[in-house]
Amino acid sequence: MGKNKKKEQFTSVGFIMAAIGSAVGLGNMWKFPYITGIYGGAAFFILFLFCLLLVGLPILLAEMSVGRAGRGNPVASMMKLGGKKWGALGFLSVAGSFLIMSFYGVVAGWTLHYALLSFTGDLFSTNDFSGLYKDFIGGWMPIGWQFIVMLITAYVLIKGVSSGIERFNKILIPGLVILLVLLAIQALSLPGAGQGVSFFLKPDFSKLTAESALVALGQAFFSMSLGMGTMITYGAYVQKSQSLGGATVAVGLGNVLYALLAGLIIFPTIFVYGIEPSEGPGLVFIALPAAFSAMPLGAIFGGLFFVLLAFAAITSAISVLEVSVAFAMDYFGWKRPMAVIIVASLCFLAGVPAALSLGGQLDWLVFGGKPLFDWMDFLGTNILLPLNGLILTIFVGFVWKGAAEESGLTSMWFRIWLFMLRFVAPILVLLVLLYSTGIIKL
Ligand code: PHE
Repeated sequence: MGKNKKKEQFTSVGFIMAAIGSAVGLGNMWKFPYITGIYGGAAFFILFLFCLLLVGLPILLAEMSVGRAGRGNPVASMMKLGGKKWGALGFLSVAGSFLIMSFYGVVAGWTLHYALLSFTGDLFSTNDFSGLYKDFIGGWMPIGWQFIVMLITAYVLIKGVSSGIERFNKILIPGLVILLVLLAIQALSLPGAGQGVSFFLKPDFSKLTAESALVALGQAFFSMSLGMGTMITYGAYVQKSQSLGGATVAVGLGNVLYALLAGLIIFPTIFVYGIEPSEGPGLVFIALPAAFSAMPLGAIFGGLFFVLLAFAAITSAISVLEVSVAFAMDYFGWKRPMAVIIVASLCFLAGVPAALSLGGQLDWLVFGGKPLFDWMDFLGTNILLPLNGLILTIFVGFVWKGAAEESGLTSMWFRIWLFMLRFVAPILVLLVLLYSTGIIKL
């Protein structure tokens, strides 16, 4: 292990951009709107902010600190700081990131397809958006798009940390803000947009349930890219002089800002066109095309929206795949290009059955009442993410003694952070884990 003697590094702005790029993805623009729609609108959003503050930010800082101190992939870093057993636990993050990437690439591919359909106008040649979505995800075409996503991701990763990851994110992240702001202005200027805005921003706490709280916490995890070793892996490329506390706040705020803008695009749009916010996972792929089709210049706005979604997904995919790439480089001593090609190919192959499982024509890919795709999502998002988060809070809260120094926090902030890591975050994360495994019911 540790055969790559000289580690590449991010600049400080580059790191913030890359970390925001990792955080902002399908989670913000596809998952966040539909779960906000189902679990209580504005009140749910406020809950999500609390979860970010109490659990998301402390764990984010923990991951970055472990990565920078350990200077390696999650296995190498945790082994260096805590010994072999913790290194073995770090492997759960690598496995989880590989799993997440294999199905995440599939959905990222869908968005590219939708962008193309929208620009060519083909998206609007039908009124049956639900049928269009189901036919598409159930066919063979998603595999081609998934391959393209993997190709772009691999291309950026082969170029390395500074000329690949950093450069790509530095262009895309500001580009995304501009596109989002434009689309938000457009959505807010639709006649009748106010109803959507108040659904999203005027809290009605009576709509909240205990389940809302657990979903909000799960979302804080997913959307901050926690529990998959991504922030440990990126942390390994951070300069010693960078303030990790500052980076944590910047990434947290950046992530919230993107979620806010995404909500300001989606809710006004669907309310204006009479679509239910509680539509579920198809919200972005079914309801939005319906809305765009009824809108002047809808092909352009729709196309832009889906391009935006695809790029946000690819900057996240880059960070998820880098975990396995860094692991393969350290563990097998492979050079970066070889590690990327092998890992990306394996991940692509692992995603193929996930992509094909949604059509229902291959029976063996559907079991226990759910397609393989849903099982992979469930195992990755609902089990491994919180489990790894829990392992990390215990590791940094109780085992590793270097956290105070590495984090660079003042003693007051350090004490608050440690309290969160020791007592608040593990309990809340454990609740999510017990809930998502069905051990406790609400
Ligand atoms: N944070 C990303 C999103 O919101 C997804 C992701 C999850 C990335 C886990 C890395 C690890 O879409």
